[in-house]
Amino acid sequence: MPITFQHDVFHLCAGGVSYCVGVKDGQLIHLYWGSAIPDSDLWYTLPQAGPSFEPLPNVLPYDFPPVDTGDFRSPMVDVEFANGSRTTGFTYEGYEILPGKPNLSGLPATYAESEDEAQTLVIHMADALSGLQADLLYTIFAQTGAVARSIRLTNGGGKPVIIRRILSASVDLPDSGYEFFHLHGAWGRERHIERRPLITGLQQVSSMRGSSSHHHNPFLALVTPDTTEQHGRVYSMNLVYSGNFIANAEVDCRSHARMQIGINPEGFSWLLEPGRDFQSPEAILVFSDAGLHGMSKAYHALYRSRLCRGKYRDAERPILINNWEGTYFDFNEEKLLAIAARAKDVGIELFVLDDGWFGKRDGDNCSLGDWVVDKRKLPHGLDGLAEKITAMGLKFGLWFEPEMISPDSDLYRAHPDWCLHVDGRPRSQARQQLILDLSRQDVCDYIVDAVSSVLRSADISYVKWDMNRNMTEVGSALQAPGRQRETAHRYMLGLYDVLKRITSAFPDILFEGCSGGGGRFDPGILYYMPQIWCSDDSDAIERTFIQYGTSMVYPVSTMGAHVSAVPNHQTGRITPYQTRGHVALSGNFGYELDLSKLSDEELALTAQQVALCKEIRRTIQFGAYYRLLSPFEGNDCAWEFVAPDGSEALVFAVKRLSMPNRRRRPVKLQGLEPETRYQAADTGAIYTGGVLMQAGLMLEETMQDFESFFVRLKRI
Ligand code: DGJ
Repeated sequence: MPITFQHDVFHLCAGGVSYCVGVKDGQLIHLYWGSAIPDSDLWYTLPQAGPSFEPLPNVLPYDFPPVDTGDFRSPMVDVEFANGSRTTGFTYEGYEILPGKPNLSGLPATYAESEDEAQTLVIHMADALSGLQADLLYTIFAQTGAVARSIRLTNGGGKPVIIRRILSASVDLPDSGYEFFHLHGAWGRERHIERRPLITGLQQVSSMRGSSSHHHNPFLALVTPDTTEQHGRVYSMNLVYSGNFIANAEVDCRSHARMQIGINPEGFSWLLEPGRDFQSPEAILVFSDAGLHGMSKAYHALYRSRLCRGKYRDAERPILINNWEGTYFDFNEEKLLAIAARAKDVGIELFVLDDGWFGKRDGDNCSLGDWVVDKRKLPHGLDGLAEKITAMGLKFGLWFEPEMISPDSDLYRAHPDWCLHVDGRPRSQARQQLILDLSRQDVCDYIVDAVSSVLRSADISYVKWDMNRNMTEVGSALQAPGRQRETAHRYMLGLYDVLKRITSAFPDILFEGCSGGGGRFDPGILYYMPQIWCSDDSDAIERTFIQYGTSMVYPVSTMGAHVSAVPNHQTGRITPYQTRGHVALSGNFGYELDLSKLSDEELALTAQQVALCKEIRRTIQFGAYYRLLSPFEGNDCAWEFVAPDGSEALVFAVKRLSMPNRRRRPVKLQGLEPETRYQAADTGAIYTGGVLMQAGLMLEETMQDFESFFVRLKRI
């Protein structure tokens, strides 16, 4: 049994990991999180009382810190009672151990398909004076040792309670000799790696943008300073949520580190009426004593198979051509069919029509919300276009941005109160658009109906679901004044409901998330859509950073990656076609350019890349992924995939700038069988796995900037 209760300690133990929470004087004491230990007799590790000036709670390590009774660090839950006070006195009431993992009502979450995959501990806490109850949920997954944590607050008292803060996980580590490791960025530069020593006090990453954001990912790791890909201790948290969040670490005067993640309390509150409950999103906690690779391996395994869902979870993803960078808004049926015909010739499988097919959308200044085909551009309608494209032997896919409304749209003229706004205040525009108020049921119903009727109107196999601005004036016309600060979270609940309804009504459609590229690349979205457009920056060199950083948490099968034209539209950089292909092949492969403008040589290369993708995509999408050389640490980067059955390994490398005094460089591989022999497909050279892992594979450099390398090794 992965979960036991002995010595007043709950011991969750699986996948080489132990997580221990004790019960003492009615409080939940955090006792251990790390490599598996044989028993949980850990009370001797508890810190001793501090100076009398300071109450004992500020010294103790908690899993559910008490509030206003002497723990002065960041709380996990903070409420305001009807009398205006915030002091709570939650004490332990009991527990349940459930097989498998229960669903979280209305929220995306990891899941178990059978009872032996996971076990769930529910710890019941209650505040006797107010009647407030807190259920803390802990699921441990057998294979990975990942722990899913969340909290459900129920108002069992007779008076309303305002929730001011409700995080999903809080863990107190007994030491603080770590580095703060997180993923940050901006539009076109998402999920870059940053790592810096922990200092005393609070350090935090967050989003207040109404989405998880380009700028910070809902992820945080504390890593020992010696941590590399293969070595070091890593404690990490990732929030299964797509809205405002915080992830923080707080080091106190005793050098203890509190680590937390959850909904951003800024701008948030929730009125909890008697008898009602509030479920927090879940946080996934991964510990690794085998460095960053160990952490990523656990997230990848869990997310690929027990977060992503539906028909495409285990299916090979189609190679697509998207017309966005090829045509932007300037297209007609003829132009699209010309691109599609070329795509078919080179073996591409799916044609995706991006923004501009509806209303009067010749630019980004109008028509969002009016999901009716523009007959000026597509005189035979979407069905006519889809019919011609499918007759060529391609599948047809379509772009939407359903959460948005243009002020210049019939929808806005009919329903000016359907957007997020605050009465009497200006409605700030970004990309000349406003955001629909998804906290409203009528708005959600409209989106479901409008999108569904388009999806039913033509043979559509794929949807790109975009979201292109941050939230401002986050108010709702329908909510009572005391509930306005619920709007951002209610929006997320509305979005999740819309996604659930649409994805379950159209189970054969492949959905790809997008938010100006990777502005909402998070586990919440992945629950509904198994892949996300990684970034609007399609430059191959920029992508080596973005995809490398993204891979820290998210499996390669979740990342959309396309070959685009040069000079690159985001950076102006000119990179070789081969390099663009190799980088894009290391994600869900596709093209985003006007194929009818390619030279014969480029078209021939395209056909080769497409053929190669078809041969190797199982290994890329379902194999083990290893980071070999970090672009953040030098001029070279390299990564590797090993097939699930070990039969092949794929090694990719990119050199940024050419340098004088060229040399042959070794790249040490990972994940091979040491005694087994492997043959390089291109040269026929034979190596043993142990040699490739210890001495490395030699990369032959030429005098070219932005050069890439690819070696396919087959087990013989
Ligand atoms: C932002 C997306 O990231 C792009 O790929 C493209 O779909 C545009 N929106 C269209 O407006």
